[in-house]
Amino acid sequence: MLSYHLRFMMPVRVDVATPSRSYAVTIGEGTLDGAARTLDDLRLPPRRFIVSSPVVWRFLGTRAARALGGAESILVPDGERYKILPTVARIYDALLRANADRASTIVTLGGGVIGDMAGFAAATYLRGVALVHVPTTLLAQVDASIGGKVGVNHPLGKNLIGSFYQPHAVLVDPGVLGSLPRREFRAGLYEVIKYGMTSSPRLFDRVATDRKAIFDRVPDVLAAIITDACRIKAEVVTADEREAGPRRILNFGHTAGHAIEAVTKFRRYRHGEAVGYGMLVAAELAFARGALAERDKKALAGVIASLGPLPPIADVSIAQIMDAMKHDKKMVDGRLHFVLPTAVGATTIVDDVSEKEMKEALKRVGFAR
Ligand SMILES: NC(=O)c1ccc[n+]([C@@H]2O[C@H](COP(=O)([O-])OP(=O)(O)OC[C@H]3O[C@@H](n4cnc5c(N)ncnc54)[C@H](O)[C@@H]3O)[C@@H](O)[C@H]2O)c1
Ligand SMILES: [Zn+2]
Repeated sequence: MLSYHLRFMMPVRVDVATPSRSYAVTIGEGTLDGAARTLDDLRLPPRRFIVSSPVVWRFLGTRAARALGGAESILVPDGERYKILPTVARIYDALLRANADRASTIVTLGGGVIGDMAGFAAATYLRGVALVHVPTTLLAQVDASIGGKVGVNHPLGKNLIGSFYQPHAVLVDPGVLGSLPRREFRAGLYEVIKYGMTSSPRLFDRVATDRKAIFDRVPDVLAAIITDACRIKAEVVTADEREAGPRRILNFGHTAGHAIEAVTKFRRYRHGEAVGYGMLVAAELAFARGALAERDKKALAGVIASLGPLPPIADVSIAQIMDAMKHDKKMVDGRLHFVLPTAVGATTIVDDVSEKEMKEALKRVGFAR
């Protein structure tokens, strides 16, 4: 009852301003239903294509089609396996068959995979058409839909082909998360914890105190944490569109995280779960250096554990993780830039993490010797 009137809360607007484009992220229940109005207000080209996946369309297709009356849908498979150029080619094919010209708008309706692929198609089709993201996973709502990174994987590595292409608008409707499988939902929550740990003690505490309502997916509780997370992402992207400096702090947990994903061939863990482990590794490292208090390390481990058990790691080898880390995109001139937490809500970037320290930290988190 407490939240009765909050259900009808006005949407919240978070602004992203980059040299290439400024746009708003609108967060609130019903933003999907009001999409046509938003696009019209922005004077985005009238011919609209919704790019989605059969899975997402099953849950949200009717609603999205109603919201964007007259829009044509293009469905392609999602899931990491399909985040490849041939799937993007299918989007081009559909656009070409429909004679889509420059006066077209692509609306992505899906998780990060659909957003990244359809965003890349929007960036490249006829050298660029209008793009609006309607993210439907928690991860895409708090992360992938903001910042303009679009692209696909290559057999030799993740996200190796792509570009920066900022959307014209991002519509975040927490109500669409109702059908998201629990594991996907949790995977997104690790990224929310990441934002809390790097930038916001308030958000960090919220995940802990509102856990039940979050898991019950109470829309206004979700809207509150999503808004906090989006504000942080928007601020960082505004300060540093191309990840030359400040944007790097959002890589917290991602150095070890990406290596863990790569070693297990992107199959065993959801990205967010690997980031969960990556944050634990970074915290162990920071603690061992005396950069992070034990209390804060425990707070991080506690909130991660409170989401439920992570898939096991005891058979994932430290040597392989070390090797995978050497191929990391965050290597600059042969040095690994590593984000260390220094307190709940604060980080520092170092480039002198030794192999020995890293191995020790991995060992303490529980990886195999
Ligand atoms: N561009 C960026 O800045 C950025 C940032 C972070 C992650 N990413 C990328 O995002 C991808 C991961 O995104 P993801 O976690 O959203 O995964 P995803 O897009 O694969 O979606 C996960 C699963 O959830 C299903 N799904 C999506 N919305 C649903 C809904 N509302 N109800 C029921 N099922 C739904 C999908 O069909 C899919 O099976 C990765 O490829 C990653 O590289 C990009
Ligand atoms: Zn991430």
